[in-house]
Amino acid sequence: MIAVTAKVAGGRVTDTHRIVFTPSGKRGDFADGTAVLEAARQLGVDLDSVCGGRGICGRCQILVAEGDFAKHGIQSAQNHLTAWNLVEERYTSKRGELGPHRRLGCQAKLCGDVVIDVPPESQVHRQVVRKKAETRAITLEPVVRLYFVEVAEPDIDSPSSDYTRLIEALKTQWNIDIAMPDLAVLRGLQKTLRKGEWKVTVAVRKGHDIVAIYPGLIETAYGVAVDIGSTTIAAHLSDLYNGETLASAGLMNPQIRFGEDLMSRVSYVMMNPGGEIEMTDAVRVALDDLIGEVVKEAGITRDGIVEMTVVGNPIMHHLFLGLDPVELGGAPFALTLDRGQDVKAREVGLSIAPGAFVYLLPCIAGHVGADTAGVVLSEAPHLNEEVTLVVDVGTNAEIVLGNKKRLLACSSPTGPAFEGAQLSSGQRAAPGAIERVRIDPESLEPKFKIIGSDLWSNEEGFWEEAAKTGVNGICGSGIIEAIAEMYLAGVITQDGVIDGDLQARTPRIVNEGRTFTYVLNDGEPRITITQADVRAIQLGKAALYAGVKLLLDHYGVDHVDRITLAGAFGSHIDVKYAMVLGLIPDCDLSKVGSAGNAAGTGARIALLNLTARGEIENVVGKIEKIETAMEPKFQTHFVSAMAIPNKVDVFTNLAKVVTLPPPKVHAEPVEGDGGRRRRRG
Ligand code: FES
Repeated sequence: MIAVTAKVAGGRVTDTHRIVFTPSGKRGDFADGTAVLEAARQLGVDLDSVCGGRGICGRCQILVAEGDFAKHGIQSAQNHLTAWNLVEERYTSKRGELGPHRRLGCQAKLCGDVVIDVPPESQVHRQVVRKKAETRAITLEPVVRLYFVEVAEPDIDSPSSDYTRLIEALKTQWNIDIAMPDLAVLRGLQKTLRKGEWKVTVAVRKGHDIVAIYPGLIETAYGVAVDIGSTTIAAHLSDLYNGETLASAGLMNPQIRFGEDLMSRVSYVMMNPGGEIEMTDAVRVALDDLIGEVVKEAGITRDGIVEMTVVGNPIMHHLFLGLDPVELGGAPFALTLDRGQDVKAREVGLSIAPGAFVYLLPCIAGHVGADTAGVVLSEAPHLNEEVTLVVDVGTNAEIVLGNKKRLLACSSPTGPAFEGAQLSSGQRAAPGAIERVRIDPESLEPKFKIIGSDLWSNEEGFWEEAAKTGVNGICGSGIIEAIAEMYLAGVITQDGVIDGDLQARTPRIVNEGRTFTYVLNDGEPRITITQADVRAIQLGKAALYAGVKLLLDHYGVDHVDRITLAGAFGSHIDVKYAMVLGLIPDCDLSKVGSAGNAAGTGARIALLNLTARGEIENVVGKIEKIETAMEPKFQTHFVSAMAIPNKVDVFTNLAKVVTLPPPKVHAEPVEGDGGRRRRRG
């Protein structure tokens, strides 16, 4: 127990009252007439306040418990707090009733013993509910907080600047020491003070930097978390005080006009001196447009955004910052910067609050970026005992393996096939794309589902529904299932060869010269899985699996306890088929799941919780980076992983739920074979 006012040893003197806060359990004895907010402050109880106890923000609401609390040794009652006062009256007349047993903590004063509950909405560090039960909760710890102050008016007899009087007010009313004035903030100071009639709300970052000043009382501040992908940019606007996402928007990365994939964008810079400036401008303008969209959707103004966080792969990260990405185009893939970094938003072309910062999560290695750091922050393998594999599949796969003892990371060049690119019938995941496939092992007839319809293609009404979008092609998740089902039905061998002998059994197998093709949809357009398609997927999945194996070798284990698939692709594939294909290693299927856009979630965590930034910087600093290109065993693992699911590894967990066909190999050479992909596709 913390004794705050005079106490007699072993007992309490009569002019103090005991207050017990729940859920924290913090308690103390305070003098008669102490405000609940003041008691909370002295005890370090998490009770919010923006107005500093003036009874106007309503953030300090508390609930008074009634009854006999034997374990605390007190009787608590409503009338153990001073009566409802005029300030509370004024607050409720303007803002509505508080609710039963609720009081403003800054107004209610002790006149007896009480048990006080601090409801979640009155806690600064409340937890944000996340959709998935197994993911850790986000605890709010705002990087920027709002402070309402009353500033002394200028006085000709004791001249001092408006800024000096502002920082004096912050010091005396909130005990905050401001580090240095920001010129952009200063420019609006005088007008704001006068507009607010010397009452202003100051947004202070990390307890010492003023990022914005608003006239009057402002009760919440906003932040934007951004994931800059090479194809799309996504932004999420959050209320920094309750963690809610208020608006989200995304757009295509305009850098695509300089090159579809990352390497071609680096090549553009190499071929066109100054090209990086064009690309930097393009991404910054796009991001500023996205900010415009989210503030419009949420009905707020740009200057309400006081903080941003950004994740992206190393090339996106560097281009956004205006750093030359050329060194990232080849070994040894040297980054300019691998630490977490604060930059002023205005320095990177973003119009938000005048002194606001953008925080970039750290990059892990030259080809494992801040997006992967975001995935680690979101999925937290570093907090688990279980050896967890986290894979973010794109044109490159970023792979993280380990647990609380060690974490290792690498990137593996999977190529564009998983995104549906460079396949005979491939397309991006969009309405009309085949995303689910089943093949009858007897008749070898397929059925499929397309994005935009819940019906299988052999169900009544499917073709009427499909007429709205067409059946246009096959996306990444569809090709995984198609090839896995072809394998399970015996259409392809373990080596990935489409078995031409089956032509006798089905017209679905057609001769294309030296190889065979499986016809998935004999319509317009005709959708096929060619031998070259199977090879492209084999090359991609073998690269990913070989990367995983290298990490397992380095860690010194032969299996993983848990697998998390991150990214858009990871959230759409059926993990069972990913395992049948040998994209991921054998694991208890109940412990294999998707994390959705974990990189974006990581950016959001870093936006809402200051400590998380230190945590991820610390974890990233300790991650062991493995360079796949330098590892002689990569090729051995790669060759074994070309087989379905794998030439040497056994899939005992998978065999419990899927009947894997007996080995059937084909000796004839096939077209479409190729060596390892070039890095970054
Ligand atoms: S602290 Fe603002 S109303 Fe109580």
